[in-house]
Amino acid sequence: MATGIGGGNDGVDYGVEVFTGIRPTGDLTVANHLGSVNEIVALQENFRPVVFVADVHALTDQDPETVAKHRLEVVKDYLALGVDPEGASIFMQSDLLGELSAMTLLLSRELTLSELTGVPTLKDKLGDDENQLSARVFLGMYPVLMASDILAQRAQFVPVGRDQIAHIELTRRLAEKFNTRNGATFPMPEAYVADEGEGPLTVLSLRGKGKMSKSKPEGALFLADSPDVVRDKVNRAQTGFPGEVTPHIESLAQIAKGLSDDEATHQKVDDLVAEHAVGEAVMGKFKGVVTDVVNDFLEGYHDRKQSIASDPHFITDVLAEGRRPAQQRARATLEAMRAKLNI
Ligand code: TRP
Repeated sequence: MATGIGGGNDGVDYGVEVFTGIRPTGDLTVANHLGSVNEIVALQENFRPVVFVADVHALTDQDPETVAKHRLEVVKDYLALGVDPEGASIFMQSDLLGELSAMTLLLSRELTLSELTGVPTLKDKLGDDENQLSARVFLGMYPVLMASDILAQRAQFVPVGRDQIAHIELTRRLAEKFNTRNGATFPMPEAYVADEGEGPLTVLSLRGKGKMSKSKPEGALFLADSPDVVRDKVNRAQTGFPGEVTPHIESLAQIAKGLSDDEATHQKVDDLVAEHAVGEAVMGKFKGVVTDVVNDFLEGYHDRKQSIASDPHFITDVLAEGRRPAQQRARATLEAMRAKLNI
């Protein structure tokens, strides 16, 4: 990932090395932390990631009150989970609404309607006739707005989940078409997927099939859960008979190891899984360790969040700091587009 950072691309420089957006859906789970926030925290050691809260995007499937409720909450969460304003920067998408809307309009010139409806995420959402009848044009704009987010910042690496790769591909296609038609304007962004391969980083629902998600609350550990709720959920979590190391057990082990830096705890988790694998009845003990690790982690998170929330200026200052350079880059990019289009 170090190669070419900051370097030119088609004669156009990158503006940001690492850039990503977060949908302010509220109610983050432990899986959100382990799957994505953690990644940004790790990247801030060597890069200066820029993250933004996609509050305009959120209006595609949430009402304005819900978005308003969640947009600042998610900033507090990210900060409480270790995103450090000294090492990363955070801005609010709606602070750049003017620049991004103009870019979205001009970029949509490069996109055919059939190309747009071929975007997999959109195809899924437009699955049946009924959905097609009620789908708003705004939903169709989603991928173009996302391309504008990325291209406005002239971003190089974009950490995203697997489901978002098609959107990065569309972004690249739009950039390429615009460049070809109008002259070099955008450097090419690249998707950066941290959890290559199926696997260890995918946190499963505690019970039943599939990933941990807020849509299955009984199988999800929410950051807001109290210690008793965590204990109860972990106690009810699916495991396996002695001798049988199931994906659910592996996932619980990943949660515990992901949330603790303590070597001895990692060892204890590995030992208990190994004992279980050879037929010992240790799942009670194992769940006790998982519960303690999760609750320790959440206690730290709650304390940090409370202290962040107690200073009302802190969040506004962080967002103002983040906004300035992001807006500068977006304005410069929009100006470059306008110059190319002679408007
Ligand atoms: N679509 C992304 C998601 O659902 C969020 C997002 C919006 C985004 N704009 C972006 C991510 C730009 C990366 C870059 O998770």
